[in-house]
Parts: sequence; C-alpha cells; structure tokens
Amino acid sequence: MTEPIIRASYDDLTQSLKELTIPKHRVCIVGDSHTIPLYLDRIRAACQPVFTEVHSFMWQAGEEYKNLDSIRDLIGYLLKLGFDRRDCLLALGGGVVGDMTGFAAAVYLRGIPVIQVPTTLLSQIDSSIGGKTGVDFDGYKNMVGAFHLPVLVYTGISSLSTLPEDQLISGMGEVVKSALLGNADLFAWLRDHVQEIKDKDPAAIYQMVLDTAKIKTEIVKADPTEQGIRAYLNFGHTIGHAIEKYKNFSLQHGVCVGLGLVAASYMSMKRGLISKADLEEIETICRAFDLPTRVSCLDSDRILTITRSDKKMVNGRIRFILLKAIGQALIADDVSDQEILDGLTYIMEETE
Ligand SMILES: NC(=O)c1ccc[n+]([C@@H]2O[C@H](COP(=O)([O-])OP(=O)(O)OC[C@H]3O[C@@H](n4cnc5c(N)ncnc54)[C@H](O)[C@@H]3O)[C@@H](O)[C@H]2O)c1
Repeated sequence: MTEPIIRASYDDLTQSLKELTIPKHRVCIVGDSHTIPLYLDRIRAACQPVFTEVHSFMWQAGEEYKNLDSIRDLIGYLLKLGFDRRDCLLALGGGVVGDMTGFAAAVYLRGIPVIQVPTTLLSQIDSSIGGKTGVDFDGYKNMVGAFHLPVLVYTGISSLSTLPEDQLISGMGEVVKSALLGNADLFAWLRDHVQEIKDKDPAAIYQMVLDTAKIKTEIVKADPTEQGIRAYLNFGHTIGHAIEKYKNFSLQHGVCVGLGLVAASYMSMKRGLISKADLEEIETICRAFDLPTRVSCLDSDRILTITRSDKKMVNGRIRFILLKAIGQALIADDVSDQEILDGLTYIMEETE
C-alpha cells in the first residue's frame, strides 16, 4: 500500500503523477457539484503534462447520491469515451466521491487504477486511505462495495480552506476517534493545540492530518482486509452509525461518531478499562472541538435494534470496539445489550 502524500497545496502533484508506474494514457477527474467548480481547473492543470487526455465528470454533491445509479452514470460516460485498462480515474472530493469513484474503478473492466485527491478533513485522514470503496443500498450504508487500493493518495491541505465549518467539525470526530484508538501522543497534542486547529493554523492542520493519516495507514498495512485490528477503526461507529440512521442522517457522520465514542468510552469505564478522569478528558476534547457529547430524543431500544442490523456482526454478535487506555483499542465480542443501553443512557440529554 502506498503512503499518502500530504502537502500544503498541489504544487508537486504533477511530479507525483509522473512517478506512477501506471500507463499515463487518459484520466477522468471525478468530483461533485462542490469540488468540481472549486478545484477542477487546478487539478486538470496538474494532470495535463502527464496524461494524453484529461476528462472530467460531476455528480450532485451529497450522501443521497451515493448509490448504484450514480455509478451507472459514470460508467456510461466512461463507455462513451471508450475508456480501457490503460486509463484511470481521479477522485476529487470527500468520502462520498472517493468511495464511489473507487468503486467504479474497481468494477469497470474488472478494475482500472484510481487516484485519490481527498478534499475534506474526513477523507484526508480516513476514507481515501485503505481501499474500501462502495455505495449505499436500500438505506444500508456502504452495503455494496469492493476493496480497491488507490495507486496514489495526494492530499493538498489548502483545500480545507473552502470546506464549510460543519464539515470540519465532523472531520474532527474522526480525528479524535483515531487518536483514541491508536495514538495517545496525538490525543495529548490535540488537547494542547485546540485553538491553533480551530483557527486553521496551517502548520497545526498539516501536523494533525499527517499524524492522523499515519494511524489509519499503519492499521491498514497490518490488516488490509479487516481480519483483525482494522476493526479498531470502527471505534465509536457501532452506536454512531445507529444514531445516524435513527436520526435519518440529519446529524453529521462525525458528530454521530463523536457521540458513539463517548458512549463506547463510558462502556469502557464501566468495565474498569479506563478511568473516570479519562472519560472526562475524552468528553472535554470533544466539546472543545464543538462535538456534542449528549443527544436528545433517542429511543434506546430502537437504537439497539439498529446496531444489531450492523453488517459488522460476527456469528450473531456485535463486534464492539472499546478502549483499554487512551490511545489503545480492543475488540470485544461479548458486549451485552444492557451495556449498550447503559452507554446510550449516558449520552442521552436530560429532558424536563
Ligand atoms: N472508505 C472508507 O474507508 C471510509 C471511511 C470513512 C467514511 N467513509 C465515507 O465517507 C463519506 C463521508 O465523507 P465526507 O465527510 O468527506 O463527506 P462528503 O464527501 O459528502 O463531503 C462533504 C461535503 O463537502 C463538500 N466538499 C468536499 N470538499 C470540499 C471542499 N474542499 N470545499 C468545499 N466543499 C467541499 C462536498 O461536496 C459535500 O457537500 C461517507 O459516505 C462515508 O461512508 C468511507
């Protein structure tokens, strides 16, 4: 697996493309209705000295378009262009564009190369790395997909300057999650650099993206097909996904992950794995980055039912990720319904 290249901007993207060992025939830059107007010209200019032809394709922005119809539209366009195995796709966007472009690349002609140029915080530290691609299906997230590693992941941090604030906050949910499951030093560093990060200080953002992307890269290298520790990356996601679905996707993904990780940290504390002080520190850092730690109007039994329909069930049991310390995750296959309900009660807002 290639290490992601993380730069301030796109200055040496052309050079990185030249160094690829794929045929430099045609490329199709695939983005959405936000990223194409903002970045197509810049990325096309970087591609032009390398590829014989540069094409582009745009989806409407939004998770609601992450489906097989959108894949069909792209594949129809590639067929019209006569794309063959010498050609490649370049995903220019957040996780939705990255997952869908990666999936189209995985299945078109049984696989053509894909380059990831992630433009959201979440995609830069998480979704562009590791080759998981796919689409949602009949209300189930990422239900249809494939593993297809990108030949290059190139992040230009400057793209975050146009990212809406709520997307940055959502991305911070995944940053905090990654630090908690894999790097106590990063967790401490985040605690000490809250203001610089919120002020979007370029050096702080660069350091954060670099260190967080490294956690995912190391885990995926050790366990590319999720037979073991790659499951750590689901920390906060079992409950987070269920809340996301229960709330009809009205709350952002990273916000739900933030709530999920507080619930899972509480469950870890109840098992005596982490201390109350650890839990308080986790909640403090979430709040510092404007991630809510409590949520209103949850039906715990309904959430529990949704967690049971999670595709990460193994032999009828939920594979739950808990913390054994800040910076260290563990897989628990024996989490009871009551523990999950207790975690949900903990994050539920008191109502009058
Ligand atoms: N493959 C994986 O391993 C993996 C991991 C985590 C999440 N995901 C997936 O990632 C998706 C979420 O990704 P996301 O949070 O990046 O959301 P997203 O791709 O929907 O992007 C969020 C919004 O920001 C816009 N945008 C993107 N870059 C921008 C920029 N630089 N400036 C202005 N606007 C910009 C997008 O058009 C969109 O409206 C989910 O579908 C999730 O399932 C995949």
